[in-house]
Amino acid sequence: MRAGDPATTLSYPLERPRRLRRTERLRALVRETAVAPSQLIYPLFVVPGEGVRREIETLPGCFHLSADEVAREAHAVEQLGIAGVILFGLPAGKDERGSQGYAEDGVVPNAVRAIRSTCRDLLVVTDVCLCEYTSHGHCGVLAGSEVLNDPTLALLGRMAVVHASAGAHVVAPSDMMDGRVGAIRRALDDEGHTDVALLSYAAKYASAFYGPFRAAADSAPQVGDRRGYQMDPANRREALREVRLDIEEGADIVMVKPALPYLDVVRAVREAIDVPVAAYNVSGEYAMVKAAAQRGWIDEERIVKETLLSIRRAGADVILTYHAKDFARWS
Ligand code: PBG
Repeated sequence: MRAGDPATTLSYPLERPRRLRRTERLRALVRETAVAPSQLIYPLFVVPGEGVRREIETLPGCFHLSADEVAREAHAVEQLGIAGVILFGLPAGKDERGSQGYAEDGVVPNAVRAIRSTCRDLLVVTDVCLCEYTSHGHCGVLAGSEVLNDPTLALLGRMAVVHASAGAHVVAPSDMMDGRVGAIRRALDDEGHTDVALLSYAAKYASAFYGPFRAAADSAPQVGDRRGYQMDPANRREALREVRLDIEEGADIVMVKPALPYLDVVRAVREAIDVPVAAYNVSGEYAMVKAAAQRGWIDEERIVKETLLSIRRAGADVILTYHAKDFARWS
């Protein structure tokens, strides 16, 4: 063997990694990572009314659903073995302070009740954020062009309590205000919801990958953008700080969002902390796959399986994904 020859290593021919790749049985025996529907959460968009089931243009295969239809969809999701659903609401009306977001008969609490009375043990997670409910589309209360941090916390606390009272198992704040995890935990505990878990969007980046969601949820900011509260895509260390703060404030699960462009962050968070880690395979990631698949440019099933596997391999315990139903059917 010639030293320095890149084609030969000291271990070959004794070591032959291909031995363990020869058959599917062998490959399965030594496979390091798996994805199961029980690790997935499927997003649903709730609208007012009855009997509404309208496909969302920017998210092919996903629908705007009224509470009765959400319950039917959730039942199908449960049958597929998927862990749970996360609910986003499109209210009948919006105002400056997003008051429909914490109304007891709002679209989301109504949907939570409908799901809980239809499904046996499907997990119901609710997104806690004002942006779908405010007329200006920002995630907090506005003063001029400034999103006010502390006045927003009380409203998020109220929203979480309303969701918990309707029967949500988990509330998931996605607003990125400082201190909101602690404020929501206190609000829940004060109302006796000590068992409702908190999944925080801990490292949520100001990302272009949310575009199709904002069209679906009608939640794009009317003026400005979210860079004053969501994280700078250039930062990794800061994610660890955000995660640490959220855990100190009481987060039970911490999330990194988006997933694919931030797998290094998922890995860093996984190694730094010991609570479960979630990753959100967001709307833009999904829409790109769907668009290419519709043109016949990619093999959708293989792309989706590889995508979800890579997010798990990076260290995520839980994945929020619009592919959940397709994946569960294929697996
Ligand atoms: C609400 C929220 C957003 C998403 C989840 N919760 C949009 C945003 O922050 O602009 C994005 C989800 C997706 O793109 O799939 N704040």
